[in-house]
Amino acid sequence: MLNVAIIGCGDMGTKHATAWSARSDATVVAVCDVDEGRRQRLATHFHAHAFEDWREAIAHTPLDVVSICTPAGTHCAIAVSAAGLGRHVLCEKSMALNLADAEQMIAAADAHNMHLQVSHQYRGLSRYKVIKQLIHEGSLGSPVFIRFMETREVRPKLAMHSLSQNGGPVHDMSGHLFDLARFFTDSEAESVTASGAIFGRDKPRLSTVEDFGVDTADIQVRFAGGHCLSIGINWGLPEGTPSTSHEVVCGPLGVAHTHDSENPDLNLGEISPTTSVVVKDGQGTRVLQCEADFDGPEVCVDQIAFDIINGVSPTANGEAGYAALKLIMASLESIESGQTVYLDL
Ligand SMILES: NC(=O)c1ccc[n+]([C@@H]2O[C@H](COP(=O)([O-])OP(=O)(O)OC[C@H]3O[C@@H](n4cnc5c(N)ncnc54)[C@H](O)[C@@H]3O)[C@@H](O)[C@H]2O)c1
Repeated sequence: MLNVAIIGCGDMGTKHATAWSARSDATVVAVCDVDEGRRQRLATHFHAHAFEDWREAIAHTPLDVVSICTPAGTHCAIAVSAAGLGRHVLCEKSMALNLADAEQMIAAADAHNMHLQVSHQYRGLSRYKVIKQLIHEGSLGSPVFIRFMETREVRPKLAMHSLSQNGGPVHDMSGHLFDLARFFTDSEAESVTASGAIFGRDKPRLSTVEDFGVDTADIQVRFAGGHCLSIGINWGLPEGTPSTSHEVVCGPLGVAHTHDSENPDLNLGEISPTTSVVVKDGQGTRVLQCEADFDGPEVCVDQIAFDIINGVSPTANGEAGYAALKLIMASLESIESGQTVYLDL
């Protein structure tokens, strides 16, 4: 039986607790939040001990796994301390706000032989698995050009827009898309060129934010093998503006894009029972219906639980989270400098 502590009892904390509790071999024994109402709600629901201070929560015994669901700026301190106490760590993305913190997290997990996994659950969504399969079997040819675009109103969570809490919307969201591009192409990025802006600065909803992170960016990434990723993110539109998004992958033999008959503005990574992947090539158009998906971290919970229970050696601690963070930081550096950032492979 894996004993689990949930740190941060907001939206993702609730989803992590639900995903862990759905397993017959895991139980949520401790929950922690600085907000009393949130921690008590989860503690009552999952019959867990409630803590205000994460240091006390991770010291609770018995405890095997710590699920970190607080803003990104807190991840490093919690993950490093948890590994030091002999706890495995499932950490929400973004792994950290900078590479030095992420490196500390990996070093701590390695030093104590603990698992460290970052929650990039988009890989588990059926429409992205379908696209991965199309690329993998060569249906689209190679190289592929991947385009993700999304415009949204300023986000309701102020932490999302804060540089010191979640790093800003571009930091917060782009990591998922970098991870998907690595997943689709099985290759690593060579260079990043980006431009950015902060459109949300003058929006009434964000009037109390003091340290705005970038909310708007065009990011171009060149991958080994000639694959290209183009990201357009704008999460700084006026409150009440409906979302728009596109996900398209084009190769020399064809193009695939996602489509949702009931929800034409399906957000990137959002789940829906009516999503399909439309493939267009020299043979015409075919529609691949997608399976029902989970709305949360189940894929990541199941993966780390499998690895721990089966004694899989934690050889690639934080690998996907670190690779995504490296591209986030390169994008922000390129926005700042106006220069292309070249990455060592
Ligand atoms: N994987 C995904 O698709 C996905 C989606 C949304 C958010 N996230 C990530 O999950 C994390 C949490 O996001 P959320 O949407 O659940 O936010 P949230 O605001 O709903 O919840 C965060 C909770 O953490 C608590 N908290 C903050 N600092 C704390 C501290 N020092 N000690 C204890 N509790 C503290 C807050 O009170 C809050 O209840 C972020 O890293 C975010 O980027 C991931």
